[in-house]
Amino acid sequence: MTNNVVIGVTTDFPDGEIRPASLPDGTTLAIYNVDGAIYATADLCTHGEASLSEEGILTGTIVECPWHFGTFDVTNGKPTGMPCTIALKTFPVTVIEERVYVEF
Ligand code: FES
Repeated sequence: MTNNVVIGVTTDFPDGEIRPASLPDGTTLAIYNVDGAIYATADLCTHGEASLSEEGILTGTIVECPWHFGTFDVTNGKPTGMPCTIALKTFPVTVIEERVYVEF
C-alpha cells in the first residue's frame, strides 16, 4: 500500500534548486526542481551519507555530492559518477493545484 503526503506548494521548490522535505515518519527527502519538473529522492548520499538537500549541487538533472564529488540522476536515482555506485531511493511526485504530493 502506498501513501501520499503534501510536502508543500510549488513555490516552496524554486527552479534549479534543492530543498528538504519530511515524510510523516521523519525521513528527510531531497526535492529538486528541474525546469519546473519536481523530483524527490532520499536525502542522504548512498556513499557517505552527506545531505543532498543541504549540500548537493544541482546541474540539470544531475545532483553532485560535494563530499567526494559523486553524482546521481535525480529523475531515477541512478548513480552517474564515482564513487557513488548505489542508487538513491526515489519517490513519485504529483502536483495538483500547486500542491506537491510525494508517494511513499
Ligand atoms: S558522501 Fe557523497 S560522494 Fe561520498
